[in-house]
Amino acid sequence: MPVISTILSTGSYLPERIVTNADLEKIVDTTDEWIHQRSGIRERHFAAENETTSDMALKAAQKALESANISAESLDGIIVATTTPDQTFPSVATKVQAALGVPICVAFDVQAVCTGFVYALSVADNFIKAGQLKRVLVIGAEKMSSILNWEDRTTCVLFGDGAGAMILEAKEGKSGSERTGIFSTHLYADGKLRDLLYTDGGPATTGQSGHIVMQGREVFKYAVTFMAGAVNDALAANNVSAQEIDWLVPHQANIRIIEATAKKLDMPIERVILTVEKHGNTSAASIPLAFDEGVRSGRIKRGNLVLMEAMGGGITWGSALARF
Ligand code: UT7
Repeated sequence: MPVISTILSTGSYLPERIVTNADLEKIVDTTDEWIHQRSGIRERHFAAENETTSDMALKAAQKALESANISAESLDGIIVATTTPDQTFPSVATKVQAALGVPICVAFDVQAVCTGFVYALSVADNFIKAGQLKRVLVIGAEKMSSILNWEDRTTCVLFGDGAGAMILEAKEGKSGSERTGIFSTHLYADGKLRDLLYTDGGPATTGQSGHIVMQGREVFKYAVTFMAGAVNDALAANNVSAQEIDWLVPHQANIRIIEATAKKLDMPIERVILTVEKHGNTSAASIPLAFDEGVRSGRIKRGNLVLMEAMGGGITWGSALARF
């Protein structure tokens, strides 16, 4: 029987500090009405000044380990999706490894901005299917507040901080209705579109991490088209209809983009896990944060078919279909 990746557990962490749209009105020329109408965001969490991406990743990981009731020592892989690592190197993954006390294992970061978690999940799934890893901790963690330009109201009101984690485990695959775990992942990138969303700095250019620059309207148009394509590819590859999907867990950038994707799938919004209003856009952390919220609120149950999809800087985009 083929080896498949099952989802053992999820976990997440949000920093304590909540920043509302009203708080932002005091420092930026904006309104709660504009932000909520255009993006669906009401508030976001910001990490404390001395709180790093690896601190948040660690807390999400600990929650996932607790839920799975397994020890950190039993992990043989740690993959972290992030665009905002504590340092240029070493990776956040190795910091999490050390903090958790995981013995020598595979540990590295993946960088695909808001699509990062789908990319990391795909990498972990393929390591498992290849027989190289057995139990992998996959994390999406971001301190987006560290790369915001407070002079640019078109971007600084949209992002938030946080981390989400998922533990995958190798199992013997079953077929038919007993099929479980990750069914497929689909990844895409089109580097010709890189200038639509980027940071105006980096280690090999300015020597600083830089700040987010985005052509929002253009990104919006591509997001709707690309994500619908990724979602359709996931359904077609698995011979699954949209009606069979129990939950859509989309990247949480904009409620209007999410609604457009749900509409294309003819899926009622009640079957979509929505966190954008309270989390804002947490980039690579948004899908695992939303997935964990779905699980902990009792909506995503064992046996449910869950479709994840994301799009971000690069431009990168992708989807993953899994039975929880
Ligand atoms: O996660 C990675 C992928 N990212 C995304 O998916 C984001 C995609 N883009 C979006 O979500 C939306 O394009 C935004 C939320 C960023 C913007 O919404 P929009 O409906 O596309 O607005 P817009 O950029 O067309 O701007 C409309 C107006 C402009 O004024 P004028 O030129 O029409 O007079 C902006 O100057 O809104 C103005 N504006 C603001 N007003 C108040 C821009 N930002 C703000 C603001 N507060 N914060």
